[in-house]
This record gives sequence, structure tokens and C-alpha cells, in this order.
Amino acid sequence: MNESLSVNHLLGIKDLTPTDIDLIFKTADNFKTVINRPIKRVPTLRDITIANVFFENSTRTRVSFEIAEKRLSADVINFSSASSSVSKGESLIDTVNNILAMKVDMVVMRHPAPGACIFLAKNTKTQVINAGDGTHEHPTQALLDAYSIREKTGSIAGKRVLIVGDIMHSRVAISNIFCLNKLGAEVMVCGPATLIPKHIEHLGVKVEYDLKKALQWCDVANMLRIQLERQDIKYFPSIREYTMQYGLNKRLLESIGKEIVVMHPGPINRGVEITSDVADHAQSIILDQVENGVAIRMAILYLLAMKTNANSIV
Ligand code: CP
Repeated sequence: MNESLSVNHLLGIKDLTPTDIDLIFKTADNFKTVINRPIKRVPTLRDITIANVFFENSTRTRVSFEIAEKRLSADVINFSSASSSVSKGESLIDTVNNILAMKVDMVVMRHPAPGACIFLAKNTKTQVINAGDGTHEHPTQALLDAYSIREKTGSIAGKRVLIVGDIMHSRVAISNIFCLNKLGAEVMVCGPATLIPKHIEHLGVKVEYDLKKALQWCDVANMLRIQLERQDIKYFPSIREYTMQYGLNKRLLESIGKEIVVMHPGPINRGVEITSDVADHAQSIILDQVENGVAIRMAILYLLAMKTNANSIV
């Protein structure tokens, strides 16, 4: 395959072209076939060492990257700030340069500070993949979300995608907006006015404050968690009131007069933004999203590794 990405790092969806995203999807299609075979491992990244550096909690992203790396036969190092010398005052660059001194080829990083991955890519000699940086971007989540919409509905162009909840603090919402816009979908956001950033229309999205109307408009609804860990003030009176206005329950889902696809990036707070009977409903593709995350991350790791090889040959 001669095609390659236009970027050397994956720092955000903002940097990708629609052609890059198509290439990632096409490559993920191939890897999805591989990981559904009895022998799931391929030798593609043998002798490449990848460090998963997580300064913030994660279940899906960290495990999914580790599985993707192992399916590609890479050597994997897992590093979390809680059990490291970061707690003794070591800086981000010193920490990563020490890991790189042990001949690591690629760093997958999650960090609470927006822009931390950009900073790392500028100041170290490694390839960086952003696994979520504060309120900035979560590019692999947006790619697996768009891939899952394409898989479920056949295409993304022209689809109406609704993102509901805490848009203000959500890196998933921002990356989804960039990704879906680039692929020709229409995007609407919905939530309490206090959790919708001012002027978000400039990103090419519609805004609706009434959840039922928003659901009637969309083909796909992506329900987000309230990011309480990033909220330093109260944005709504109580969780109970939030759930009454913006929670998706089965009665509401069945009242809109059409069948929509329900998504959630996880972790789910059952009974808050989504009830269990909706999360586990036939219209929900939440676990398909998780499954597709492995193929998407394999595609990104492979395409970025090929990029380095191409650079070194030049
Ligand atoms: N969707 C997501 O990023 O989940 P984790 O925080 O568990 O990685």
C-alpha cells in the first residue's frame, strides 16, 4: 500500500484531511478482519516499542491501545503517573525523555492538560498519539465513533448526528465535531445552556436546548457523561434535574416516532445521561464502538509507523 497519512503524529482530528480519515477507515477494515480470525496477531510492528503514558484514569482507551499494539506484535510498556516518579516532581519532558532513552519508538499519551501532546511532539524526538488531552481533543475516540456510524448506517455524509450533554468540558465532543464535519455529516449539540460553549455555531454545528426536538432531528444520538472532574462550579441545580431534562430513557427514545442509533463514548453513568434499558437497547451500538476502537487504533499505529519508515528511507 503506497498511501500514507499527511501527519507524523496524531495530535487532533483538526490536523487530518478527509483523505487521511478514509485511509484510516480502509486500514481499520483490514485489521477488523484480522482480529476476528482465530489467530489475531500479525507481525506488522515487530521490534517497535510503544509506551502508553497515562497521566489520567482510563479503561477503554488504555486497554484498547494495549490490545491493538499486542495484536500488531509491538513491544508494550505501560506507564501511569500514580506509580511513577512524576509524584516526586519530575517534569513531563524529563519523564518522556527518560522513557525514550530506553529506545521507545512511539508514545501514546493521555494527560489532563489541553495541548500536552502538542507540547510533547514539539519537544521530543518521538511519534506522539493523543489518547485525550484535557478538554482539547480525543482523536481516536472520534475516529472510532465515526467508523461505527459508517458501519451501522452505511455512510457518514448527510447523516444527522446529535451530541448531548456536557459539551463545554468534552474533548470527545470537539473531536467528533471536527471529524463528522470533515466527513460531510450535519452535527447538532444539545444540553443545558451553561454547558454549551458560546459561539459554538462557528464550528459548523446547530444548537438545540430541547432534547426531544433534537432527537426528532437526528439519525444518531451520542450521549455524553457529565465531566464532574473538570467542573469547578455548579452548571445545573442537581443531577436529578439534569437527568429529567437531558437524560435519555426508553420512553423518550420510543416517543420520537423513528428509529435512531444510540452511542456513548463511555464511561457510562447509568441512570444519569442514559438509562440501562437504552444503553442495552437493540438501537445502542456502545459495545460496537469499543470493539471498533481496537481496529481503529491498530490502523493508526500501523500508518504512523509506516510514516516513520518512509521518512527514514528519504
Ligand atoms: N472513552 C474513553 O476515553 O474512555 P476511558 O476514559 O475509559 O479511556
